[in-house]
Amino acid sequence: MTAASDGVLHTLFHSEQGGHEQVVLCQDRATGLKAVIALHSTALGPALGGTRFYPYATEAEAVADALNLARGMSYKNAMAGLDHGGGKAVIIGDPEQIKSEELLLAYGRFVASLNGLYVTACDVGTYVADMDVVARTNRWTTGRSPENGGAGDSSVLTAFGVFQGMRASAQELWGDPTLRGRKVGVAGVGKVGHYLVEHLVSDGAEVYVTDVREESVRRITEKFPQVTVVADTDALIRVEGLDVYAPCALGGALNEETVPFLTARIVCGAANNQLAHPGIEKDLVERGILYAPDYVVNAGGVIQVADELHGFDFDRCKAKAVKIFDTTLEIFARAKADGIPPAAAADRIAEQRMAEARRA
Ligand SMILES: NC(=O)c1ccc[n+]([C@@H]2O[C@H](COP(=O)([O-])OP(=O)(O)OC[C@H]3O[C@@H](n4cnc5c(N)ncnc54)[C@H](O)[C@@H]3O)[C@@H](O)[C@H]2O)c1
Repeated sequence: MTAASDGVLHTLFHSEQGGHEQVVLCQDRATGLKAVIALHSTALGPALGGTRFYPYATEAEAVADALNLARGMSYKNAMAGLDHGGGKAVIIGDPEQIKSEELLLAYGRFVASLNGLYVTACDVGTYVADMDVVARTNRWTTGRSPENGGAGDSSVLTAFGVFQGMRASAQELWGDPTLRGRKVGVAGVGKVGHYLVEHLVSDGAEVYVTDVREESVRRITEKFPQVTVVADTDALIRVEGLDVYAPCALGGALNEETVPFLTARIVCGAANNQLAHPGIEKDLVERGILYAPDYVVNAGGVIQVADELHGFDFDRCKAKAVKIFDTTLEIFARAKADGIPPAAAADRIAEQRMAEARRA
């Protein structure tokens, strides 16, 4: 055993970040499959979380990522009000090089072996077409195409949920849930960002966008000529009089290079893991910026995939995603009551829900 894998085991069994119920190491020599399925909690129901396919530098790194992501899903699912615990799988390797139908089927058989304890979906490196293959081996695969009983693109509901979180943030700060007349900056106008812009424009917001891909920007400006395009994220966070900043590109958007310069009073966006490291949430509070926790407001996607298990119904999902408004307000209230940042308040509420489910 190497020091690195020793470290992972220590995390699993002894640290605050651990406490996972089960970790499954999967190997299929014939197809080259090496995967880790981590079940953090099944207190609220079967563990739900996507499958990441990624060329990890080491196997220990892959296990650590699976543990971390699975834990995050427990919190996200608890806050979304789903009857699901948190889990995540990682397949080790470069999908461009090793992804094959046989490998995905081998992976699906491991998901099947858990007999419903783990429900999978897409994540970085896996797509709807892959889930269609994985689903051939088990009943616990979501993120499938509509032709295969799935719900397809989750970004529609994700954007809708983020918009609900933003409306709740506006209610909290300005006493009115509308974004009408507010300056909102959206960083990243890909799948989720462009739907978010649509909501903002129809609500009467003054929208600013930036994206590294020309095509994403062009699609927005063709549809919404009134939107202002700025050069990059650095310029966006400094827009004079910006009211809301919505990170909708990559993780780590809130860090030492951005938080001190943000002109916005609210941060609410779709990107996962926006806080670059622990402590940034306190910097936001000190600057008087209201942060709507990422995993709470971007839960529309997971609400959608969870629904697939019951035969997908868009209206039922939308009704659940509307609740992101109330949940976000509940978090702000708890943050005030406990004198802690909203990110910490969200964690506290999620932990409470899981603890209550365990006791029941
Ligand atoms: N799609 C979903 O349902 C969903 C659900 C939950 C969370 N998220 C998260 O939301 C974020 C966006 O997801 P998506 O599905 O829209 O992805 P996407 O890849 O479709 O869009 C991301 C966009 O960000 C742009 N971008 C990348 N780096 C940038 C930078 N430095 N500055 C400006 N723009 C940049 C890309 O060019 C792209 O247009 C991701 O962090 C994702 O993990 C997505």
